[in-house]
Amino acid sequence: MAVDLLLGLQWGDEGKGKIVDVLTSKYDIIARFQGGPNAGHTLEFDGIKHVLRTIPSGIFHENSMNLIGNGVVIDPVVFIQELEGLKQFNIDFKSKLLLSRKAHVILPTHRLLDAASEASKGKAKIGSTLKGIGPSYMDKTGRNGIRLGDLELNSWKEKYRALANKHEELIAFHSVDIQYNLQEMEDEFFKAVETLKELTFIDSEEYLHQAQKSGKTILAEGAQGSLLDIDFGTYPFVTSSNTTAAGACTGLGVAPGQIGEVYGIFKAYTTRVGSGPFPTELFDEVGAKMAKVGHEFGAVTGRPRRCGWLDLVALKYTCQVNGVTQLMMMKGDVLSGFDELKVCTAYSYKGKEITHLPYNIEPENVTPIYSVFKCWKEDLTKMRETSKFPKELNTYIDFLEKELELPIKVVSVGPDRTQTIHR
Ligand code: GDP
Ligand code: IMO
Ligand code: MG
Repeated sequence: MAVDLLLGLQWGDEGKGKIVDVLTSKYDIIARFQGGPNAGHTLEFDGIKHVLRTIPSGIFHENSMNLIGNGVVIDPVVFIQELEGLKQFNIDFKSKLLLSRKAHVILPTHRLLDAASEASKGKAKIGSTLKGIGPSYMDKTGRNGIRLGDLELNSWKEKYRALANKHEELIAFHSVDIQYNLQEMEDEFFKAVETLKELTFIDSEEYLHQAQKSGKTILAEGAQGSLLDIDFGTYPFVTSSNTTAAGACTGLGVAPGQIGEVYGIFKAYTTRVGSGPFPTELFDEVGAKMAKVGHEFGAVTGRPRRCGWLDLVALKYTCQVNGVTQLMMMKGDVLSGFDELKVCTAYSYKGKEITHLPYNIEPENVTPIYSVFKCWKEDLTKMRETSKFPKELNTYIDFLEKELELPIKVVSVGPDRTQTIHR
């Protein structure tokens, strides 16, 4: 059986958690393949809202197995808090949640290093979630990291001490004022590690290989968005993993030829949290309205998300890089009643009109060129059928499908599981 992927096509927070939850009934296994607790995936059903950080968004379904792949970085402290938050649902984590031995561990000093690195950058800061993501992936590629499998060995604390000592030297090297009590952080961390070890660690690539052989259906859940990809995103204002389709291969051990559907998910407009270029960003009352109506505040940090029009130059690029096979449009309901809608179809780049994403999309190089649409007035949140869609919404969708050369198969009209329309 092929492995299907669900990926965010913008700068994250497209609504991946909601859609994975909706799709889970079709899949036996939901597998996260990259990122860590920098992610915040929101699910809403039966009047409950939940934000997941590292745990896959299939966890609430009785029959799904949930797997955290080798490409993920895990902070035991955050992870245990996440489990605590789910206590009320009586989920049997030992049997429903599997963790790859090859996943890397975020140490307390990784978090401190993240803070020191950001503080030392001043105005040029990335706007990181400060969860230790960058430093832990640096230790992974630097071949110094500690993996979940190491926690099963007696010697891991020696390795930990040596690494933490090195990190303390690096923190001091940054010469910034970071106040911390490492002893306290370590007490919390070691306690969390012991609880984490009660869960099921596996050789996940072998598990997935056997699952595929026996005909099990698998959905890989992406975190962040393609424009935050370490290679293809707006570097250096990106995260430290491959958020694009290829990341699912390396983050799970799935061969490229085994990838099936690639579901690409995007908001009907654009948001970004943290620093970095954003050509279609709005600084006026229209952007403020998107933020207000869309409740655009980060699920992890609570920071306001920057808002702007849909950018088809960027979206075409991410559809290509990912090999997207079908699209899902989220949050169309937020735009109801806007005076007009704009969609960026090209950039003016150094005086020339271009339709591809150039190396540098800083505002001094790029000015968006827009097509303008009439907006729908109707409230979409109670609609459940495409036949009820206002004609302006159909025009918008048709235009996007034509430009992107891909079908939009799902239109989401609210945060709840039931507010999902299949086309
Ligand atoms: P993720 O990181 O991609 O899973 O997305 P987040 O959970 O960080 O952010 C998406 C936010 O939009 C969450 O608060 C969702 O509950 C909400 N949401 C998802 N789909 C829709 C939608 O179609 N309409 C509205 N109004 N909200 C939505
Ligand atoms: P989900 O999975 C939106 C952003 C941060 C920052 C940059 C680097 O919920 O869509 P990091 O902590 O990785 O060093 O931050 O990436 N970022 C996200 N933005 N959604 C996310 O995840 C994000 N994860 C990281 O704001 O700009
Ligand atoms: Mg999010």
